[in-house]
Amino acid sequence: MTKKLFIKTYGCQMNVYDSTRMVDVLAPLGYRPVQQPEGADIIILNTCHIREKASEKVFSELGRLRVLKDSAAQQGRRVLLAVAGCVAQAEGEEIVRRAPQVDLVFGPQTYHRLPEMVTRALGQDFGRGLVDTDFPAESKFDFLPEEAAAQGPAAFLSVQEGCDKFCTFCVVPYTRGAEFSRPVADILREARNRVAEGTLEITLLGQNVNAFHGEGLDGKSWSLGRLIRELAEIDGLRRIRYTTSHPRDMDQELIAAHGQVPQLMPYLHLPVQSGSDRILEAMNRKHDAALYHRIVAQLRDQRPDLALSSDFIVGFPGERDEDFAQTLQLVTKVGFAQAYSFKYSPRPGTPAAGSAQQVDEDVKSARLSALQQLLNAQQEAFNLGSVGQRMPVILERRGKFSGQLIGRSPWMQSVVVDAPAHLLGRLIEVDINSAHANSLIGQLVTEDRDHLAASSQDGTTGAPDRPAPSQSSPHRKRACA
Ligand code: SAH
Ligand code: SF4
Ligand code: F3S
Repeated sequence: MTKKLFIKTYGCQMNVYDSTRMVDVLAPLGYRPVQQPEGADIIILNTCHIREKASEKVFSELGRLRVLKDSAAQQGRRVLLAVAGCVAQAEGEEIVRRAPQVDLVFGPQTYHRLPEMVTRALGQDFGRGLVDTDFPAESKFDFLPEEAAAQGPAAFLSVQEGCDKFCTFCVVPYTRGAEFSRPVADILREARNRVAEGTLEITLLGQNVNAFHGEGLDGKSWSLGRLIRELAEIDGLRRIRYTTSHPRDMDQELIAAHGQVPQLMPYLHLPVQSGSDRILEAMNRKHDAALYHRIVAQLRDQRPDLALSSDFIVGFPGERDEDFAQTLQLVTKVGFAQAYSFKYSPRPGTPAAGSAQQVDEDVKSARLSALQQLLNAQQEAFNLGSVGQRMPVILERRGKFSGQLIGRSPWMQSVVVDAPAHLLGRLIEVDINSAHANSLIGQLVTEDRDHLAASSQDGTTGAPDRPAPSQSSPHRKRACA
């Protein structure tokens, strides 16, 4: 009998990817994913620990789920409640103590053991929740089954995990562990499988993706630039992206790939956090503002239409007005197409949390709104610059209104078009008519429209390349839970 699995995903794309793999791991046990927790046999919260708000959300959600679990129990139905991801890794036993309704706690590196954990949990009537937050010697990738669940036209592929950088504000090195790169052969196999099921765009994922140094096809260590060149050889793979990068790891091979590999999209998320060298140093970012500007100049040399996005933290301990002014200067000088900015959130166990120079909450709020005003204006200007352009768009999902589809431009903008549903999953040309703060409105290029309408009448699609995939693309989440 099929059983129902509900996964709620918080946090970054790594978690989105991990959730799709948890579906794969549980499929042989008869579990199929469902869209809501009501009626599910297993509920997994795949959590994020990056800021206080993100991890607190988990406990309020667990409160709501307790009610659901209890009422199922009254009807004689057992619901397993699991906490996965970075809060699980960071808090472990503490979760079971605070929320005894939780049956399973497991970290990002142990979800390949999920079938065994589920079987054990089901074998005991009551009792304490099972906790597995090991950093096992084995790699989970060697134990995960083949990817079963299709991801759609735009897919994520995890190539690197963990982080050895230890920025003084960040929990990731503790929740995800040491840097690890997958072998190139594994990555190519997964990418080919994705393309065979209709994926047109692959985003390579890693907490520090450009620190990639996996074993290459020749047995030597390959850089991310080399891996991208190899992936570009896969017939039918139209777009390649990668995220998230660290400025220190932008090597010359990778920068050159931006000029030489046409499938590599002209959009890069390159977090800088601050424009002040003093703060960058205190953050242990291992680079200064000048290095960031140099890299941006080299990238734009290679690819003049490259758009940049970034992450910023305001109110890091010790940040003065003049430091913040330097952040605004950096933003003005670089010009970002998109960005994510956060108030510094002290995280337990990280060095900066213990600093005596914490910044007042109202100062943080004022800086955040000044920064966001500037970034929003830049984003709007960037989007306005797209009006009148013709650009290729991969249609990923249905829009709010019937007859609408939504896709992504090469620069990661959401593009809304009126288009027939059979174009879902296709790469099409769109003329951009207008721009909003967060999206573009366009129309199918006329010759495309005529051609596609004619071909749909005779039963063929006539659209470029491959069949529409069976599932919509994963909800794209950024690391901004
Ligand atoms: N690996 C990426 C970032 C991962 S976390 C990198 O090196 O840039 C995503 C973003 O969350 C970070 O870029 C940072 O801007 C933000 N962030 C991380 N820890 C934070 C904290 N303690 N308070 C506020 N923002 C934080
Ligand atoms: Fe966190 Fe990124 Fe710094 Fe690693 S490089 S510690 S993931 S912010
Ligand atoms: Fe973990 Fe990603 Fe959040 S690595 S802490 S889920 S941003």
